[in-house]
Amino acid sequence: MGIQVDIQNTAIIGMQWGDEGKGKIVDRYSGDFNYIVRFQGGANAGHTVVVNDETFVFHLLPSGVLNPGTVNVIGNGVAVDLAQLCTEIDGIADAAGSLENRLWISDRASVVLPYHKERDRQSESGEEKIGTTLRGIGPLYSDKVGRKSFRVCDLLDSDSCREKIERLCRMNNRLLTEVYGAEPVDVEAVVDEIMALRAQVMPYICDTVELLCNGLKEGKSMLFEGAQGSMLDIDFGTYPYVTSSNTTAGGITNGCGVAASEVKNIIGVTKAYTTRVGEGPMPTECTDETGEMLRDKGGEYGATTGRPRRCGWFDAVQVSYAASINGTSTLALTKLDVLDAFDEIKVCIGYSVEDRIYRTFPADTAVCSRCVPEYKVFRGWNSSTENVSDFSSLPDKAREYIEGLEEILGVTFPLISTGQSREAVIFRDKGE
Ligand code: GDP
Ligand code: IMO
Ligand code: MG
Repeated sequence: MGIQVDIQNTAIIGMQWGDEGKGKIVDRYSGDFNYIVRFQGGANAGHTVVVNDETFVFHLLPSGVLNPGTVNVIGNGVAVDLAQLCTEIDGIADAAGSLENRLWISDRASVVLPYHKERDRQSESGEEKIGTTLRGIGPLYSDKVGRKSFRVCDLLDSDSCREKIERLCRMNNRLLTEVYGAEPVDVEAVVDEIMALRAQVMPYICDTVELLCNGLKEGKSMLFEGAQGSMLDIDFGTYPYVTSSNTTAGGITNGCGVAASEVKNIIGVTKAYTTRVGEGPMPTECTDETGEMLRDKGGEYGATTGRPRRCGWFDAVQVSYAASINGTSTLALTKLDVLDAFDEIKVCIGYSVEDRIYRTFPADTAVCSRCVPEYKVFRGWNSSTENVSDFSSLPDKAREYIEGLEEILGVTFPLISTGQSREAVIFRDKGE
């Protein structure tokens, strides 16, 4: 019934600009999988899981961690913030129990250090800001590509660990003071902090490539948890208003060492409308009371930074583009209930920019920001779909909206989410 999770090795990927409800969907499915694997992003992510009225927000821990049967893996592609990770491990202890042998951190992952966050703050203080989460993500990935990362395996030997951090701090302090005119980081304080955190994370470090490859040989199933969304992908998103990793399914192999051929199933997660946090174009943004209603009803405030999210109608041009670059036609539609109070609901089916019509997403951010959406209008249902768990119990007009989206996009929505809680999910039977 519903999405074929019995096919081994499934990826859950955001189809918009993040915050689509990936955490909820990963948690809902995690019981069917042996390994839950994060492969990119870092503490910029905020994945919300609501279980028995308790809310958990995961930034670095995979969202399957509440499920006691899962082994959770932070892959080599993740930007690991040790302080954040330790806070999360401590914070989850009551609900998840000990994570010993249930959490593994890749020894190849790069570590976010305090100077990354300072560099992020400095580059965001100018006019050309991206609106980042200030978690040091851009500077960390720049260093990784520039071959200047401090990696998790560098923690293993305490003497060389100390030495390497000192050297990197000194190098970054020149950048901070000479280029940005900022304060340097306190080298000794950074070393002390990392040495203390090192002791806490040591039990979780391993060669996760070997772990996952052995798991594959033993026939273990894996759920790959995407962070951010496809439109924030460094290559395919609204560059430069993107994050610094490959958020699309293409990032899985490089981010955890599992070959692309092993990923059998990709589920895209999309809201029933659109949101975005930070700067950059969003063609269907509503800056009027419609946007406010979506924000209020949907609780659209960042799970990481608390910033109000920009809200607007569903953008079928954008989601189609995301579905094709991820190679999926199986989508989970979330937050349907947020549309309960609208008289009419719009879906963008094309853009016009001056006299040119676009049916695909333009590469040029300047063009994107001039896009005028062409809308198809659906009738609102004006009744509650909250916590509905049966497709046939939805109002006729809500079903018309869902089927209308499927027709426009050429996809299916075998899973529809109707509320925050784990249980608020409709799994559609075939033909429904
Ligand atoms: P993620 O980053 O993709 O995991 O999403 P976030 O956790 O940042 O944001 C999604 C928000 O929507 C969270 O507060 C979820 O609890 C909430 N949510 C998820 N699915 C639904 C749904 O179907 N209906 C409603 N009303 N809220 C939902
Ligand atoms: P989840 O996993 C929404 C956005 C930031 C900014 C841009 C770059 O919860 O969906 P960064 O800090 O990565 O350098 O910021 O990306 N951003 C997100 N927006 N959800 C996220 O994660 C995001 N992670 C980063 O707002 O526009
Ligand atoms: Mg989020």
